Amino acid sequence: MTDSLFTPLTLRGTELPNRVMVSPMCQYSAEDGLASDWHLVHLGSRAVGGAGVVMTEATAVSPRGRISPGDLGIWSDEHADALAPVADFVRSQGSVPAIQLAHAGRKASKRPPWEGSTPIPEDEGGWEVIAPSDDPYPYEEGDAPETRSMTAEDIDAVIDQFRSAAERALEAGFEIAEVHAAHGYLLHEFLSPVTNHRDDEYGGSFENRTRLVREVTEAVRDVWPEEKPVFVRISATDWLPDRESWDVEQSARLAPLLAEAGADLVDVSSGGTHPDQQIPHAGPGYQVPYAERVKEATDIAVGAVGGITEPEHADAIVRNGRADLAVGGREHLRNPYFALEAAHELGEDVEWPVQYHRGTFD
Ligand SMILES: Cc1cc2nc3c(=O)[nH]c(=O)nc-3n(C[C@H](O)[C@H](O)[C@H](O)COP(=O)(O)O)c2cc1C
Repeated sequence: MTDSLFTPLTLRGTELPNRVMVSPMCQYSAEDGLASDWHLVHLGSRAVGGAGVVMTEATAVSPRGRISPGDLGIWSDEHADALAPVADFVRSQGSVPAIQLAHAGRKASKRPPWEGSTPIPEDEGGWEVIAPSDDPYPYEEGDAPETRSMTAEDIDAVIDQFRSAAERALEAGFEIAEVHAAHGYLLHEFLSPVTNHRDDEYGGSFENRTRLVREVTEAVRDVWPEEKPVFVRISATDWLPDRESWDVEQSARLAPLLAEAGADLVDVSSGGTHPDQQIPHAGPGYQVPYAERVKEATDIAVGAVGGITEPEHADAIVRNGRADLAVGGREHLRNPYFALEAAHELGEDVEWPVQYHRGTFD
């Protein structure tokens, strides 16, 4: 039988009740990295809405790893304590609580989108940012914060921060840890020759550029229980064909190495390295072909994201074996009950929360 959007998926010892995942989405609403009522209600609603996996936004492994001062963080036990009610509530609704662990690299120290996403100078509360090399992100507006090329000690520290973050995430009750290696943030910056000009063992060759993401994945897998899955989100391409850059064939080469490092699913996104990126048409399912290519290259599961807004489209992606998870971002902002409505539309028998029975369609 073909798997559908509502066929459970077992990864290691963890069963996802369906193939709908709420994509990580920054809310820029934390104070000092601490989760608040907003995060509980926001993520909790999407679990009530029936998504199989509810993933937190990019959650910084260190204060310096935040995109903005409002990002969630998990660099102390206090942060884990603040996230625990979120993980508990998501689980209580039958969804699998997941956390995206992140470091923003040279795209750190920015204002939230509603204040323009412009860089925050250090004298206005911003912070020094670190990256594989010292060329700053080419902001169109505002001076980039000082960008320091990472030393060997910085690299070791980042690996340790991801490991400790995973330990805390586990304590907080999350069942899936996702390593954020996409969208031009730190780990992607190491992968891409556009941002990585190092001449040590972390730069140059494919093997060297992929070393840090492999080591971080291994570190997370090291502390993450055997029966729980680890995901890695990648940008399949920089969308910069006019220069030496990261592309889908390198992503296909990376996927089996991530599997070897302990990953159970590659979550396939794209872009974010440089504002010159040329995305031909960011229409429905525009990144699905990349998920499909990565899936051909590896035995582990793959998630597709980007413009998946229609239940039938999401279902077809899974049924046709193009990806194992249909990951949605903005559609879930518009409609937290996407999964329940999708089940109705697709004629699947899915249990609604008892409190909402009178709202069912039948
Ligand atoms: C408000 C917002 C915040 C986002 N924050 C993150 C994030 O924290 N981590 C991440 O990997 N992607 C982030 N993204 C990208 C989404 O996860 C998703 O990949 C993207 O929106 C494309 O999917 P969609 O077309 O279904 O929205 C964000 C997107 C939005 C709209």
